[in-house]
Amino acid sequence: MAYEHEITICLGSSCFSRGNKSTLHAIKNYLEKSQLTERVYFHGAHCYGNCDKGPVMKVDDKMYENVSENQVSAILDEYFS
Ligand code: FES
Repeated sequence: MAYEHEITICLGSSCFSRGNKSTLHAIKNYLEKSQLTERVYFHGAHCYGNCDKGPVMKVDDKMYENVSENQVSAILDEYFS
């Protein structure tokens, strides 16, 4: 089965230490609670070279900057609500 969306979270050291460690868990929880794990390809990525705008994550081709775990629901609701 093909995935409908792709979520990528930066796991480079800057983004990871500035919040993506928590954001990663928030995304995972969101996908599990919403039963989206079969529809969404969620994975980590190396540094995008955007560290000054980090923490960053991407949904499909759209990059989100300065992301915190509190914003995860609002961002993902745009795609899945
Ligand atoms: S560590 Fe995330 S953009 Fe560089």
